[in-house]
Amino acid sequence: MIEILAISGSLRAASTNSALLAALAQNAPPVCRITVYDGLGRLPIFNPDDEGERTPPEASRLIDAVTGTDGVIVSCPEYAHGVPGGLKNALDWLVSRDAAVGKPAMLVHASPRSLFAREALAEVMRTMSFALYEEAALEIALVGKKPPEVAEILAEPANRLEMREAVSAFAGFIRG
Ligand SMILES: Cc1cc2nc3c(=O)[nH]c(=O)nc-3n(C[C@H](O)[C@H](O)[C@H](O)COP(=O)(O)O)c2cc1C
Repeated sequence: MIEILAISGSLRAASTNSALLAALAQNAPPVCRITVYDGLGRLPIFNPDDEGERTPPEASRLIDAVTGTDGVIVSCPEYAHGVPGGLKNALDWLVSRDAAVGKPAMLVHASPRSLFAREALAEVMRTMSFALYEEAALEIALVGKKPPEVAEILAEPANRLEMREAVSAFAGFIRG
């Protein structure tokens, strides 16, 4: 079984990025198990003084989750042409450890227009030495849609197939 940790950059209850990740978990091929990370909103703001023995429990939980998974999938909105602070904060807790080094990662996209954050996030994750899978990018346009329409789009057979194929391709990348 290939274990994948999915991280949404949005804390919104009706988040389209979180909905995309939940749908990926449901449509993953049987060899993959996708677990959605739920601690983003509980992480304290990163402070290098709080590393080592002083690492806060929620940060340790994230570090352990990333260390223990075979791969990471991130779906993230764009705020003011940037990566939302919550997600950047989570990534900052991983910088001075081994958790991200060589860890296979894939970005998926719920908004076709958020290209600044997409590029910035890829640059951050490459700099952290994630092994970023960049051959294929899953993009399902959900931006601005309300939950019922989001659910409808994500249930479309063509989109379900695309999600399954994207996770399969990423699983192939993880296996090497
Ligand atoms: C404060 C704020 C700033 C935003 N700035 C941008 C932006 O610069 N570019 C963009 O494409 N969308 C921007 N958006 C729109 C969000 O990226 C978009 O609504 C996205 O779908 C939200 O993701 P979510 O549904 O997962 O919460 C912004 C939204 C908010 C709340």
